Amino acid sequence: MRKNIVAGNWKMNTTVAEGIELAKAVAAKSSEVPASVKLIIAPPFTHLVPVAEAIKGSCVGLSAQNCADKEKGAYTGEVAADMLVSAGCGYTILGHSERRQYYGETDEKLVVKVKLAIANGLSPIFCVGENLDEREAGRHFDVVSAQVKNVLYTLSAEEMAKVIIAYEPVWAIGTGKTATAEQAQEIHACIRKVVAEKFGDLADEITILYGGSCKPSNAKELFACPDIDGGLIGGASLKADDFIAIALSF
Ligand code: PGA
Repeated sequence: MRKNIVAGNWKMNTTVAEGIELAKAVAAKSSEVPASVKLIIAPPFTHLVPVAEAIKGSCVGLSAQNCADKEKGAYTGEVAADMLVSAGCGYTILGHSERRQYYGETDEKLVVKVKLAIANGLSPIFCVGENLDEREAGRHFDVVSAQVKNVLYTLSAEEMAKVIIAYEPVWAIGTGKTATAEQAQEIHACIRKVVAEKFGDLADEITILYGGSCKPSNAKELFACPDIDGGLIGGASLKADDFIAIALSF
């Protein structure tokens, strides 16, 4: 059985003090969430160490939002995978569309990052998704399949078993526009098929999250779809009550 996961991507929000408060609120309410649902929070780098402390003793997992494509050394401003592990992370988001769009993250770089993350013991939350032009041109299946193949087909089955995939249509991120459950399900099924073409039955074990304006009011319908195993939540993860309400939507 694959895991259900609800992960909160805080993006570039909250001060350290606000982040600790939010993390504590999530940890305090996490006992309301059934053990079959894994909660993960992804604060900014500056918050990781104190947030790890704030969620200690709870079941909430800690994720970074990115990691370097180098192991260590003279790479000013970068944070390496083993540093994230030493800060208490078990996960890192990689290939978020905001990083692809604003910071020139390419599939080639993501291959390196995903492999380094896994080699250091992190589970990558690997993001894929088409933009509005690609969706309107009917190219969404091709775009998302290529993103999956270009990066994840370079992995061994053992490495692939560590990966969580997040499908996030760019046109739905932070816009209030959610993909319909049908639109999301058909892409999730396509992603699982693409994974199965390379990795066989392992595809059934891979958690595939939906992201893009997911909130308490639409999570239930999305999570009811057979190939949607949870959510990567941006805006709604900044309120502990909303984040927990989403996790209670299975
Ligand atoms: P959103 O962001 O929930 O604010 O749309 C999701 C994401 O980008 O991970």
